[in-house]
Amino acid sequence: INRRGFPEGFIFGSASAAYQIEGAYNENGKGSTMWDYFTHTYPEKILDGTNGDVAVDSYHLYKDDVQIAKEMGLDSYRFSITWARILPGGTISKGVNQDGIDYYNNLINELVDAGIEPFVTMFHLDTPQALEDAYGGFLSSQMVADFEEFADLLFREFGDRVKKWLTVNEPWCLSNLGYAAGIFAPGRCSEWVGRNCVGGDSATEPYIVTHNQLLAHATVVKLYRTKYQESQKGEIGMAVNTFWFLPYYNTDEHLKAADRALDFMFGWVMDPITFGRYPESMRTRAGSRLPNFTKEEADMLKGSYDFLGLNYYSGMYAKDNPIINSSKLSFTTDSGAKTTGLRDGVPLGDQGCSLSRYYTYPKGFREILRHIKDKYNNPAIYVTENGIDEIRNDSLPLSEALRDVKRKEYFYDHLCCLREAIEKDGVNVKGYFAWALTDNFEWASGYLVRFGIYYIDFNDKLFRRFPKYSALWLKSILRGRIDEKPA
Ligand code: GCO
Repeated sequence: INRRGFPEGFIFGSASAAYQIEGAYNENGKGSTMWDYFTHTYPEKILDGTNGDVAVDSYHLYKDDVQIAKEMGLDSYRFSITWARILPGGTISKGVNQDGIDYYNNLINELVDAGIEPFVTMFHLDTPQALEDAYGGFLSSQMVADFEEFADLLFREFGDRVKKWLTVNEPWCLSNLGYAAGIFAPGRCSEWVGRNCVGGDSATEPYIVTHNQLLAHATVVKLYRTKYQESQKGEIGMAVNTFWFLPYYNTDEHLKAADRALDFMFGWVMDPITFGRYPESMRTRAGSRLPNFTKEEADMLKGSYDFLGLNYYSGMYAKDNPIINSSKLSFTTDSGAKTTGLRDGVPLGDQGCSLSRYYTYPKGFREILRHIKDKYNNPAIYVTENGIDEIRNDSLPLSEALRDVKRKEYFYDHLCCLREAIEKDGVNVKGYFAWALTDNFEWASGYLVRFGIYYIDFNDKLFRRFPKYSALWLKSILRGRIDEKPA
């Protein structure tokens, strides 16, 4: 593995998301987001009862983040913008917060000065709470117009320097984790009544929320293409996440279940933005609970990305799971596929090196990339997230805590599969972002797991960033060192 093993112009970067790193949750005019509200109102929903009030203080330490990205020799840094930091009340009519605009201008300028390309996510799970209160956020189609207004402001303010835009990050996470599982904000999950769910109807809401995210995405792509692209000359896409699904056993029923699992996670987003319609299996199974696109909407959705952002972490098995009791409809069971990382108690993964949550399956990375090429017209792809967590253990001495050998192995294996996807399968991958630049607030897991290539001692008030072994390794291959395992 070495930088030169990748095509000319291929970019290497690392990624983050605003709520996970910024902190400064109520400083200088920022409005509340639904994650502020969720973590403050239901701290028991977060494994360690924490929140992103301070996180790793990137609002104040953004220069440190740029500095470490530069030291590593990264070409690009992916970050997201807190909508409510710029529009505290969610819309322009409620006021524009100049401090928010200044903050992102400073960050962007710092990156550009360091020779690092900003790769900007407009929305990463953090709906302004004002819009949740006003009309239920993405449950309402009013979000489409409000997101368009916000995006228009971003293009105007930052589009001269930002040439890579991602509209929405991981629609599946918001819909599935926020409206069916109820473990992410806003915590809606009718089926688990008794586990502190905030209302909801998990049989229909996830479908509505993805529908509105898709329309918001396509509307903003259309806006960029008609109003800005010619002069600003940037590109726009979406970050879509998926597992690669293997059949639990190699029988026809499990193979079909694996296909359906992929439809209900990846096809749910990819089919609309590529072909302007939902996958057939979803239309059959969710019936009238799956909203329809008008002819105009379908036309707008079709081909609504210049590149695809792919977030890939791991594989899963899919097991055929026929719906028996149809009176208990829920998004989770609609696919008729039950997913699991274990088969007969054995974790998926060549090395069996699953850490706390993920079943590492590097081969699945090559498979999903080839699947995208074959099914979705060979688009340009940036891998916008790939990474693995480790369980936090504060009793380790720093030198030990920095030795993340498994993460380095993970990157090594995934970069090998990525290279094969490019060389052998002809997949058009143009960049790779390691998740995450620093340890951070991992949503429902709080600070109990670490994803960073830079270490942060959460008890250190200065939040100093220390390179882990994986960061030093990445730096070395970007500098030209060749690391090849014997075959
Ligand atoms: C996302 C992801 C990230 C997570 C990462 C590790 O929404 O892009 O959820 O924010 O931190 O996937 O779990």
